[in-house]
Amino acid sequence: MQSYRVFSDKNRLANAAADLFIQSANTAIQLRGLFSVCLSGGSSPKGFYELLVGPDYRIRLDWNKIHFFWGDERCVPPGDPDSNYRMAREFLLDHLPVPTANIHRIHGEMQRDDAALEYENKLKAFFQTSSPSPKVDTFDLAFLGVGEDGHTASLFPGSPALKAHDRWVIGVEHSTPPAPLVDRISLTLPVINASRKVVFLVLGAGKADIITQLLSPVAGRSPLPANLVQPHDGEAIWLLDAAAASGLPESLV
Ligand code: 6PG
Repeated sequence: MQSYRVFSDKNRLANAAADLFIQSANTAIQLRGLFSVCLSGGSSPKGFYELLVGPDYRIRLDWNKIHFFWGDERCVPPGDPDSNYRMAREFLLDHLPVPTANIHRIHGEMQRDDAALEYENKLKAFFQTSSPSPKVDTFDLAFLGVGEDGHTASLFPGSPALKAHDRWVIGVEHSTPPAPLVDRISLTLPVINASRKVVFLVLGAGKADIITQLLSPVAGRSPLPANLVQPHDGEAIWLLDAAAASGLPESLV
């Protein structure tokens, strides 16, 4: 199931994302005693993170029961400006009482494929399965961004990683744009599609062309990576600001 919502500005989008986070977290904690959330990389989540750590939101959750994961990481140390972990730490985790044991970062400082295998084993242990491809629900909520080429996580157009159905996490060679030109470690599509809920956060006029391609695809054209995110038993929700949605046909807005 896929749906999308368009917001007049990024502040309203951030509020909607924060509300979704709170609602998903409280439901998961009530049903299963904990909430597993997968964060995206990139800069789009910054506004939403700043809201979440603010006085109106932070008090509404039991942070001891929330486990943080990442959809992908650049092969850089955790303090590197390009680290997805560093961005989440600076804008979100450093401002919340989340136990260190609940923060499951990808070790970008390790050898790429070793780090991928380590994170894969960590996920299998957390979700209590040894299946080479997830047969159970994975994250309660997974946030994703979209690049201007239609990539999501670190699954880029034409990448062999898009066909990795017997792995949860894979190393991705990355030496051509988009920047940063460093190798990546990424979740594979089966793990993402086993999430209970996926939320794309897409902001800015720079994403208008790719959003138009993604949300009103032309018949016969091969799907872009972000099109392949179709949660089996869950839903994919696109949160767009007006600028990113500006190229969509009137009928879709
Ligand atoms: C990464 C991300 C990537 C990101 C998109 C959008 O490591 O780069 O995981 O998939 O979410 O490229 O990035 P922005 O939010 O910065 O536009």
